[in-house]
Amino acid sequence: MKKVVLAYSGGLDTSCIVRWLKERDFEVICFVADLGQGLGRGEDFTAIEARALAAGASKVYVKDIQEEFVRDFVLPALKAGAVYEGKYLLATALGRPLIAKYLVQIAHKEKADCIAHGCTGKGNDQVRFEVTANILDPRLEIIAPVREWEFKSREEEIEYCRMHNIPIDVTKKKPYSIDRNIWGISIEAGILEDLQQEPPEDAYLITKSPSHIATYPKYVEVYFEQGQPQKIDGKKYALKRLINLLNEIGGAHGVGRSDLVENRLVGIKSREIYEAPAATILHTAHRELESLVLDRELAHFKEIVSLKYSELVYNGLWFSPLKEALDGFVHTTQQYVTGSIRLKLFKGNCVAVGRSSPHSLYKKELSTYGKEDKFDQKLANGFIKIWGMPYRK
Ligand code: ARG
Repeated sequence: MKKVVLAYSGGLDTSCIVRWLKERDFEVICFVADLGQGLGRGEDFTAIEARALAAGASKVYVKDIQEEFVRDFVLPALKAGAVYEGKYLLATALGRPLIAKYLVQIAHKEKADCIAHGCTGKGNDQVRFEVTANILDPRLEIIAPVREWEFKSREEEIEYCRMHNIPIDVTKKKPYSIDRNIWGISIEAGILEDLQQEPPEDAYLITKSPSHIATYPKYVEVYFEQGQPQKIDGKKYALKRLINLLNEIGGAHGVGRSDLVENRLVGIKSREIYEAPAATILHTAHRELESLVLDRELAHFKEIVSLKYSELVYNGLWFSPLKEALDGFVHTTQQYVTGSIRLKLFKGNCVAVGRSSPHSLYKKELSTYGKEDKFDQKLANGFIKIWGMPYRK
């Protein structure tokens, strides 16, 4: 009998997978990652564990990996300014390599031969899981049942669970495919596949509709130290708490929604909507602070790095040499990213309205049009002549 470690969510697909693998003579060990998908309200991990066992798992690991997730994955991506195609803050993409890391770790501990996941053959997540696992241990075999099994619809899977007494909660199911963690929510499929359709309000889980919320703005101040957010409105928080808090505040003001047609690695364009209140607030504030403290050359070059970094994360290359090298670069850039940004949250918008930093490169005596002006305007004449010289006929 071969042993396999499965990334188990408690949902319909992965529950079928447990049984499906058992029928093919595998001993199935489930790994349930708590990445904050309960969104502060808490996920019922006892029920998930019971379901895995009912489906035939021999053992279930449930692990809260939120702290590690925010510290080692979310924070570096925030410092790097990693945003995919200008709109996606990469919540799902950042979670996958960490889950894969644990699959490999548990496989070693349990002396398993394979790992398995519930991704389809059309998405990015299969790539992220498998490339990461391959990098960490190329000897582990990978099984992706959804790519090869016989089920053609949700109904068939539900019937299969019924037949095998696997307790599946099908009533709560929304007509979307949803992935959630503390950094954000990804929502796709169903009516969203029609590009002409505005996303229905019921697709969103943690952000209030901007058209139904307070007519007053909310101000919030974020303090960063060397690129790491440390305080909200002057009060210190550990990173996980800070993110949860900003998800609440931002969500209440409709902040953090995005709707895009994105390019998947496998070459498919797909329409996806996202909710990421905290991530939106933190990226906005972090970027604003950087524009204050980074000199022009570094700031502009870092944009190129951000773009590449986002592609590496999206394309499953978290544990790659280039990503590691870019982390080195990003780390250096964060030395002076200390200071406070005051943001105004209003009807879904999030804009910086106040900035301060002990390392600010903004010199009022140079930029002012008032009488404190210290800039020697006469020098501009020679500068422009030399700068424009190559272009003069
Ligand atoms: N498109 C996003 C990504 O590739 C999210 C994928 C998972 N989305 C989902 N709704 N299940 O990272």
